[in-house]
Amino acid sequence: MRMIKKVAAIGAVAALSLSACSGNAGDKSDGKSESASGGKDIGISLPQKTSENWVEAENYFNELCESSNLKCDVQFANDGVPQQQQQLDAMITNGVKVLIIGAVDGTSLGTQLQKAADAKIPVIAYDRLLLETKNIDYYVAYDNFGVGVKQGEALLKGLEAKKAGGPWNIELIAGSNDDSNSAKFFDGAISVLKPQIEAGKVKIVSGQNTQAQAATQGWKPENAQSRMDAILTQHYPGAAVPDGILSPNDTLARAALTSVEQAGKSPLPVVTGQDSELESLKWIMQGKQYSTISKPTKPLVENVVALAKELIAGKKDVAELNGIKVDAKQYNNKVKDVPSFLLTPVVATKDNATEVYKDEPKKLEVVKSATK
Ligand code: BGC
Repeated sequence: MRMIKKVAAIGAVAALSLSACSGNAGDKSDGKSESASGGKDIGISLPQKTSENWVEAENYFNELCESSNLKCDVQFANDGVPQQQQQLDAMITNGVKVLIIGAVDGTSLGTQLQKAADAKIPVIAYDRLLLETKNIDYYVAYDNFGVGVKQGEALLKGLEAKKAGGPWNIELIAGSNDDSNSAKFFDGAISVLKPQIEAGKVKIVSGQNTQAQAATQGWKPENAQSRMDAILTQHYPGAAVPDGILSPNDTLARAALTSVEQAGKSPLPVVTGQDSELESLKWIMQGKQYSTISKPTKPLVENVVALAKELIAGKKDVAELNGIKVDAKQYNNKVKDVPSFLLTPVVATKDNATEVYKDEPKKLEVVKSATK
């Protein structure tokens, strides 16, 4: 009974913050009788709202399009891949000038991307890379491998602070397999943890050490929580408790912590996260969650819209965007090296939160009120 309540509590927070802003730019069009993306400049196709950053993105896209006098059609594929394919088909048919895509599944949009290429519509991958296609022009994202590296480093730092010198028992959680970012987060973190695992300082007690074993279908917290419940029952008998859990984002971090709490185990493990979700910022300030990653959505949206504007103006080979130089090598999508504009993620913990969020009033307020 208790467990059901807790899962519901996590879900409620997500639902609350996600439903607050479910409008779409297509809804508040200028009153002309046009279909959703008819006469629009930019088609913005986003995945499910599986974390707060996607909700923030919707708001910033709408705000920025309006203030820049751009007509944007912002759509979410809440029902998954077929819906995203249909939304893109419609945007292409309706003649948008640029597509910005955050894919549900980075490998599933080949037909739509070919259509876009045939219609000479430039394609920018937003946050998540589009894989196995030549029909992608740019990628704008936080460096996702870098996110993973920072999560791995934060985990080790937290473990060291908790139990100096180790050894440490840990578990791994990965994101959804269809999201191309999940492998980047996982590989980045493993690149840091591997030497410690090989040296015997870090032990993955369940033995579930591959991305496939650690994956969380659909980024759903209930999936991460039930997997962690099973791991605890099977591999942590009696008072045993993991010293740390690598979590790729905040929603799953809270699910993992809830699982440990409900198993009645203490102390709580060192748990990493990502996205600076408000609920997790509270948990961090309360000392429950160890870390998150700050990757503010606003500059990401500003950069991708700035790039879209350049492309609409007919510019080719954009080499620099608001001071960020194009990186031609780091992100290969299995067909080509995709010219990428990469922003730098930052780790946030209780110790540096006030500094990290100093320019984000809503987050800073949560940090400050949690410290009072
Ligand atoms: C984003 C993360 C987010 C996750 C789940 C990823 O592609 O980069 O910020 O936590 O999707 O929504």
